[in-house]
Amino acid sequence: MEWNQLGRITAPLLEWYHENLRCLPWRKDRDPYRVWVSEIMLQQTRVETVIPYFERFMERFPTVASLAECGDEELLKMWEGLGYYSRARNLKKAAQVICERYEGQFPQGYQEILSLPGIGAYTAGAVSSIAFEQPKAAVDGNVLRVITRLTQDDRDITDAKFRDQVTEDLEKIYPAKQRGDFTQSLMELGAVVCVPNGEPRCVQCPLAGLCSAYNSSSQLQYPVKKKKPDRRIEQKTIFVLRYQDKIALRKRDAKGILSGMWELPNADGILDGQQAVRWLSKKGFSVSGIQAPAAGSRQLKHVFTHIEWHMACWIATCDNAGSSNDLTWVTDAQLTDEIALPTAFKKVYRACLA
Ligand code: ADE
Repeated sequence: MEWNQLGRITAPLLEWYHENLRCLPWRKDRDPYRVWVSEIMLQQTRVETVIPYFERFMERFPTVASLAECGDEELLKMWEGLGYYSRARNLKKAAQVICERYEGQFPQGYQEILSLPGIGAYTAGAVSSIAFEQPKAAVDGNVLRVITRLTQDDRDITDAKFRDQVTEDLEKIYPAKQRGDFTQSLMELGAVVCVPNGEPRCVQCPLAGLCSAYNSSSQLQYPVKKKKPDRRIEQKTIFVLRYQDKIALRKRDAKGILSGMWELPNADGILDGQQAVRWLSKKGFSVSGIQAPAAGSRQLKHVFTHIEWHMACWIATCDNAGSSNDLTWVTDAQLTDEIALPTAFKKVYRACLA
């Protein structure tokens, strides 16, 4: 279909959505707080992964005020494993703004919502339409895939200007009612029918008859995405360092990847056993034993968006606490129950326990 015919998708898409929507915990009501938290969690994270996190989060922080008042460590612990931890920090900051500026009531205006920390055009559009029935679009990768297939548009979907234009054009076709459902119907079609990675399920698609890509069997050529630069590989050696019944942790720098999060002590590059002992000795540790985890876990990999860590691991037992004062010593119980340790380090910790 041509762009100027886009209005034809609204009715069949809404009808399909009402018959096929998945029952998801954030769809039980239109509480803006729940919609907001779910949309933040769902960024870069799959629905199945998000569900248990969302349920736990809502149980612990049922209101904006409870989130605004929470402790940073507890918040990060609730987020542990979801990644992109600044999302959690921004949720709390925004909750504080909502309490200070709007007496704890989620603001209803699109511009007010957009001005909250951590909220961009996508999230503001999602909350405005889903919670407040405004004619605002929320254009994510799912929606861009649906629209570029429908229109056989070969513009680069990573281009922010194109995304803005799709948003603007979609807002022209918002229905008079059920605007929140329309936003979700586009996301839902992209998530369950017009899927990424592999053949879309066009036989189930309510829009197949309107879809230019389907009609020319070129679904897999869309969306067009500029190739991302390759991920940078960083090699590291990670230590599970034990002294008495404790394990050493360190806070990461306030800048860069995993900023401000806890980490296991680590060195640049891959160190063998001897080099590892030497590195520890230089930090003032008297090493009484060093051991690699079981074969198969000696080199672990963790993939971030732009970086890949290749990690060698050593379990080192020490007779002292070393000479650097940037370490915090915690018990295994504290590490498990209280401290949020990013997944890259959690993998090493688990491998070294096994
Ligand atoms: N992905 C992003 N937002 C979503 C939502 N509200 N429901 C399901 N999947 C989504």
